[in-house]
Amino acid sequence: MLNLWYYCIIEGGYMPIPTSRTKEIAHVKIDYLSCNFCGLCAEVCKDFTLVMESGVLVINDHPIFGCLACGQCAAVCPNGSIVVQGREMTAEDFIRQPLKNERSGYDELYSLMLSRRSVRDFKDRPVERELIEKILRAAVTSPMGIPPSDVGVLVFESKDKVRKFSFEFIDEVVKMKKYFSPLVMTLLKPFMKKQDQELTKDFLVPLIDLFGKSKAEDKNYLLYDAPLAMYFYNSGYADPADPLIPATYAMLAAHSMGLGSCMIGSIAPFLKYMKPFKKKYSLPPGSKDGIFVIFGHPKYKYRKAIKRSFARVEYI
Ligand SMILES: Cc1cc2nc3c(=O)[nH]c(=O)nc-3n(C[C@H](O)[C@H](O)[C@H](O)COP(=O)(O)O)c2cc1C
Repeated sequence: MLNLWYYCIIEGGYMPIPTSRTKEIAHVKIDYLSCNFCGLCAEVCKDFTLVMESGVLVINDHPIFGCLACGQCAAVCPNGSIVVQGREMTAEDFIRQPLKNERSGYDELYSLMLSRRSVRDFKDRPVERELIEKILRAAVTSPMGIPPSDVGVLVFESKDKVRKFSFEFIDEVVKMKKYFSPLVMTLLKPFMKKQDQELTKDFLVPLIDLFGKSKAEDKNYLLYDAPLAMYFYNSGYADPADPLIPATYAMLAAHSMGLGSCMIGSIAPFLKYMKPFKKKYSLPPGSKDGIFVIFGHPKYKYRKAIKRSFARVEYI
């Protein structure tokens, strides 16, 4: 049987963008029997892996980095003539696009966003595995700097596991307090930005004290004894913003299912200096950035939404 797929796998000349998951380029295949040379795939390919030459779609042997597996070409093709494989992508990853009437419109999405609050008080009830999986399914749809996503997620699936982690972390962070003593801060002053000095003195140090004091009273002021916590972290390759975006999606997904959630930013900045602790929780040694999110069935109902403002919005 005729092989209908025209293969173009180009050797050399590439600079595949490395992530912890892959250091290869992906390969694009064009089915020339069904391709109508509309050029849409070449328009959306910002790596110039696919280009139009005299009205014919071709695979360029001088792309920018080589195919990243962003999948835009295959997703936009009206005839299903493109397949992208590699960098963890397969043909099965191209699934049915939700129809317009299956998607929420702006008003529905805005209402969901407006009604979300950071929830720190939860019913003493576990979060069902099915809901956890739905949160992750929604979170993974978020954009990432460079595909495939280099974000990992550590799921603490019970109040006991959340509490154990919290108290172990607090013990470690209390040990670090010596690095923020007035003497050390005075010595470091010439090398620190004014904002960092202020934040260390007026936020970090009191926060460490608060965590230590609450633990001594058997209270969890770090992760609020939530029945579920997730740590979204990057491997060290990805953009520092990468874990924050799926974490935000996860919060909205949780809220859409009646769960409360809250981001917890006070762990990752310390965690990056805790090598043995990171190893204990199987976090990659190079991982620097991350964000915790706690989830649970909310204890209280919020009766008002809150109007917020940005520090500045300027149209230039
Ligand atoms: C990056 C980030 C880090 C945060 N860290 C914490 C935290 O460590 N502890 C906490 O109680 N809330 C934390 N929050 C929640 C904020 O305090 C909360 O968003 C803010 O109070 C506004 O409340 P709202 O989300 O209900 O509008 C964090 C939020 C963000 C976006």
